[in-house]
Amino acid sequence: MALVLGIESSCDETAAALVTHDRRIVAQKIASQDEAHAPYGGVVPEIAARAHAERLAPMIAAVLEEADVSLADCDAIAATAGPGLIGGVMVGLVSAKALAMASDTPLIAINHLEGHALSPRLADPELEFPYLLLLVSGGHCQILRVEGVGQYRRLATTIDDALGEAFDKTAKILGLGFPGGPAVEKLALEGDPQAVPLPRPLVGSGEPHFSFAGLKSAVLRAKDSGKYGDADIAASFQRAAIDCVTDRLRMAVRDHGGCPALVVAGGVAANASVRGALTDLAASYDMRFVAPPVPLCTDNAAMIAWAGCERLGQKGFAGDPLDIPARPRWPLDPDAEPVRGAGVKA
Ligand SMILES: Nc1ncnc2c1ncn2[C@@H]1O[C@H](COP(=O)(O)OP(=O)(O)OP(=O)(O)O)[C@@H](O)[C@H]1O
Ligand SMILES: [Mg+2]
Repeated sequence: MALVLGIESSCDETAAALVTHDRRIVAQKIASQDEAHAPYGGVVPEIAARAHAERLAPMIAAVLEEADVSLADCDAIAATAGPGLIGGVMVGLVSAKALAMASDTPLIAINHLEGHALSPRLADPELEFPYLLLLVSGGHCQILRVEGVGQYRRLATTIDDALGEAFDKTAKILGLGFPGGPAVEKLALEGDPQAVPLPRPLVGSGEPHFSFAGLKSAVLRAKDSGKYGDADIAASFQRAAIDCVTDRLRMAVRDHGGCPALVVAGGVAANASVRGALTDLAASYDMRFVAPPVPLCTDNAAMIAWAGCERLGQKGFAGDPLDIPARPRWPLDPDAEPVRGAGVKA
């Protein structure tokens, strides 16, 4: 049974995990850097890279010790090679290369987004390809048709902000601290989602993409107006964001139907209201709804190790070359047309 060591360091979580090909998370550790970045209201790349460099090696040693295995027992070492903050990605990838070389173990360079995209299959053995995936994280907001390992067709992306970014910015406007998603979700429970009139950008439009910049500006105006309570703003923002997501997904199902399952992954997939809305949406199309357990939604190394297991299971694949580069940008679907907007995201 293949055993893969996974390493994640693309943003502000340092993580290592050991996962088997039969979906067992043998050991895992994760260290968040929330406290280090909180004073700045967002992730500071230099601080993140330094923290990864300090924490990663002892964390890998601890994971191996917890599982009572050595590197020689691993069939591959999988590390995030992008996209992400390049300093952090380099810490993880170079560590993996050194360990791979020293132990004569294959290296697997994982696209972080592929880690998110395949994470639902780690928890759900019955989830088969193809599936319709909503990938909603801090840096990305995409709808993809996942046709197989390494086969991702991007159907929609954001023309400006990612959904997690919109949650984080709303949290900042409301003074809720960083990271903002869970705090907005908590405050929204106390508010009225109808209280604040907020826009639903691109909803009902003929184009398939997402846009959240206008929603964020409207949240700022609502706060500045002094007319609304913070809980009502949080609840109204969350409802508007969910309306955008469900509208775009309806369009994707209509235009690219044929997948038996609707799947969500990425940090925002941890949000219970988002999960609830997607459960209803999937039911209305007679699709199965699959969401990974909450700890597998935000960044973690188990999903990277699992993506390594999936790649290792592919015929003829024996590992990536040791000179494979770290990539700050790395689209899952290289053939997808770039979209024009305030900020083009892959
Ligand atoms: N309960 C929640 N509700 C809404 N958003 C959430 C929740 N929990 C986490 N998030 C958001 O998810 C994001 C973090 O997710 P993740 O760790 O997957 O992103 P990332 O790795 O920074 O970005 P990417 O994967 O695109 O590189 C943050 O924007 C955070 O606010
Ligand atoms: Mg992520």
